[in-house]
Amino acid sequence: MKVGVLTGGGDCPGLNAVIRAVVRKGIGNYNDEILGIYEGWKGLIKEGLIKPLGLNDVSGILHRGGTILRSSRTNPFKVERGVELIKETLKKYNIEALIAIGGEDTLGVAAKLYQDGISVVGVPKTIDNDVIGTDRTFGFDTALNIATEAIDRVHTTAEAHNRVMVVEVMGRHAGWIAIESGIAGGADIILIPEKITYVSDICNLIKRRHMRGKDFSIVVVAEGAKIKMSPESNEEEQVVQDMKLDSFGHVRLGGIGYKLSELIEAGTGYETRVVILGYVQRGGSPTAFDRVLATRFGVHAIDYVHNGKFGYMVALHGTKIEPVALSEVVARTKTIDQELIDTAEVFFG
Ligand code: F6P
Repeated sequence: MKVGVLTGGGDCPGLNAVIRAVVRKGIGNYNDEILGIYEGWKGLIKEGLIKPLGLNDVSGILHRGGTILRSSRTNPFKVERGVELIKETLKKYNIEALIAIGGEDTLGVAAKLYQDGISVVGVPKTIDNDVIGTDRTFGFDTALNIATEAIDRVHTTAEAHNRVMVVEVMGRHAGWIAIESGIAGGADIILIPEKITYVSDICNLIKRRHMRGKDFSIVVVAEGAKIKMSPESNEEEQVVQDMKLDSFGHVRLGGIGYKLSELIEAGTGYETRVVILGYVQRGGSPTAFDRVLATRFGVHAIDYVHNGKFGYMVALHGTKIEPVALSEVVARTKTIDQELIDTAEVFFG
């Protein structure tokens, strides 16, 4: 069978492990011909972005971050004749099935293309861990460990200087990295997109902590977190770097850490500094957990292709890999459940 594989959206550690698994099982067990589609959906719209992937092309990539297929945020539904061009390319290369590795945007496109008659299987990736239907996306564990290590490091310097340190992590719609790294790193306050946090509460918690003899505090904030000055204020703030929308309608987030640090310093009188982790969270080698999850996802994805399970995504349920309909996945994002929020709050202040 001729199978195309692509990676779309923001990259994350583990993408290469999926590609390797698809190629190894596809060629080794099914005698498939695997075609690498470069730069996400763009590779099926523009010429010259499709190349065969052999066993040697995927040798030595398991532990490497990024994606050998590169990525883009191209939305074929926003490109003139985008879907027609995709169909023409699939026909030209005799591609019978597609494996699309991506987050909510890439999987959303995959779901629509499936409705349009294209045989596609999805693989959920994102450091944000916000894809519904799977317990975990690969890439999240790596980002979580990087953020936790950063918080540990920030801790010692915060303590040495009697400072409040604000650590900004990624997380557009969901604060999984913030809440789990915050719990793991012993943060004193965590701000997430799921819940509006009042600056007055943050300042009171920090003052209370300092009054009981602690001279430093760690605040972890997700880039998509929303703040208000107090419960009485009407104005809700989310800090964006660029209002220009990408082809999936997202603004560029980032920078809330700076805003927050000014407000905390003004509200408490304590010296406050900021660390923005940014793309460091997405780069580099995947953890062992992400390598194993990505490998299992890739192996199951090529099995789904051969079992005709199109229109589905591979998903982690407990310890098992199971199919979830792409139509279910695109309807919502996976936000943090209340139990985890309650657990984090026990340690606030
Ligand atoms: O992939 C999700 C994500 O990590 C978000 O948390 C973040 O807002 C976004 O990617 C930024 O990606 P880029 O700047 O590459 O578009």
